[in-house]
Amino acid sequence: MAANYDNSAWFYDHLSRLVYGKALVRSQVYLLKHIPANSNILIAGGGTGWILEEIAKVRPSGLTITYAEVSPNMISLSKKRNTGSNKVIFINKPVENLDGDRLYDVLLTPFLFDNFTEETLQKVFAHSHNRLKSGGIWLNTDFRPTDKWWHSFLLKSMIVFFRLICGIEAKKLPKIEKQFEGYQYEPIDQKSFFGEFILSTAYQKLSH
Ligand SMILES: C[S@@+](CC[C@H](N)C(=O)[O-])C[C@H]1O[C@@H](n2cnc3c(N)ncnc32)[C@H](O)[C@@H]1O
Repeated sequence: MAANYDNSAWFYDHLSRLVYGKALVRSQVYLLKHIPANSNILIAGGGTGWILEEIAKVRPSGLTITYAEVSPNMISLSKKRNTGSNKVIFINKPVENLDGDRLYDVLLTPFLFDNFTEETLQKVFAHSHNRLKSGGIWLNTDFRPTDKWWHSFLLKSMIVFFRLICGIEAKKLPKIEKQFEGYQYEPIDQKSFFGEFILSTAYQKLSH
């Protein structure tokens, strides 16, 4: 079952900024410099779409962006965003169910994988991997396990909250970095945020 953030669409950004300040935004914006001009991008789980406005600040035109988001409410909020002169194709489907066999130059998965069990992570990861061109760039931002008790506490609270409100299936954080290690990806840029709790990595796909 896909994690559907419909119920939280109207408060999601407010809540995340209340808890994390600007860290969730900064961690994603940090990676946008890796988007080449005129590229074909796939965003999976972009939420309310604020990332589209940030992308337009870095690349105001020339991009073709496919925005795959499972929540209809998140899609309608995203459609109101100022996307500059970039072309945006909104698709209200889980990223793993995209039609066709189009390949992308860049893939964005911001706080997508933390919603999943290990099994779903592997499935969605494999689908996403197959959508990325050889040599393409994968920009991934997500939580990661640390040894700080308050990070574990925050993580558990978030999981319980979003399980209740949005029906996410995760009971704990799946092993996200391990997926990239299992496939042929080279980290080309990496930075942590919110005291190591959030990790942003730009990976390059080495082979198909
Ligand atoms: C934790 S939210 C993050 C939203 C946004 N990236 C942000 O950082 O503000 C995860 C988003 O992924 C969407 N989602 C969950 N599973 C998905 C899937 N399989 N394909 C596409 N979107 C998905 C949810 O509806 C939700 O909007």
